[in-house]
Amino acid sequence: MSTPTVEPQSAKVTTLALRRRKAAGRRITMLTAYDYPTALALDQAGIDAILVGDSLGMVVLGYENTLPVTMEEMLHHSRAVARGARRPLLVGDMPFLSYQVSPEEAVRNAGRFLQEGGMDAVKVEGGRERLQAIGAVLQAGIPVMGHIGLTPQSVHQLGGFRPQGRTARAAVELLRDAAALEAAGCFALVLESIPQELAAEISRRLTIPTIGIGAGAGCDGQILVTHDLLGLFERFTPRFVKQYADLHGEMKRAFSAYIQDVETGQFPAQEHNLTMDADEWRSVLKALRSEAAA
Ligand code: KIV
Repeated sequence: MSTPTVEPQSAKVTTLALRRRKAAGRRITMLTAYDYPTALALDQAGIDAILVGDSLGMVVLGYENTLPVTMEEMLHHSRAVARGARRPLLVGDMPFLSYQVSPEEAVRNAGRFLQEGGMDAVKVEGGRERLQAIGAVLQAGIPVMGHIGLTPQSVHQLGGFRPQGRTARAAVELLRDAAALEAAGCFALVLESIPQELAAEISRRLTIPTIGIGAGAGCDGQILVTHDLLGLFERFTPRFVKQYADLHGEMKRAFSAYIQDVETGQFPAQEHNLTMDADEWRSVLKALRSEAAA
């Protein structure tokens, strides 16, 4: 019997399924999630993969960048997402200093994402300089997604959240990084904020899928930070984001309406109230009267 190459909608998405999808020329969909209700909604909408991104530091926890995010914070949010999403492939984003110090620490922290966080794989930022850590994690049987281009954990080294790979020299370096990460055994590669020509060329050269964010339509799949897509994060929206909703505006409208209703006595209304059987209430009043008379 031949193995089917297209998974039914309800089957758990695996790293192998993503590879097959690229081979079949089908685009891959991925978004970030940090909590249970978002994970549920993404699963129900039919997303292929979810990243519990360290972007949660900025869009959920209010940090200036992703550097302060800890393993404990990542695991806390990973567990919530894993409780909500069954079908998508779940990828935990290894936070700053969880894989840079030594390959041993990288393996231990990557393992925690699977053992304690309910994730199926991890993501690591960086190119050839990360091969040792990535090799060790892969040897432990943990699938690794690479991430090159704009790597937010290196924001200070890069001089800000700036597009990468725009000179011929930088583009060739990224092509070499991509090839090295595929050869090392990464199952997919995030390409962030690089020119579309370069992203398309990397995607053509690799057999593993590329997932683009600000890298054009030539990638094998796309990812966005869900809070950007929903218009939930007001502070800063990158140019490459397409905003599908204005949930920050919706939240403000709902909160203002609530404040107004409470202040004017329109909430709670009769339909929100609990009532008591009239006889029971009369008994309460009677008991109170007897107590007062005693
Ligand atoms: O942390 C994150 O959300 C990411 C995506 C932007 C790829 O790394």
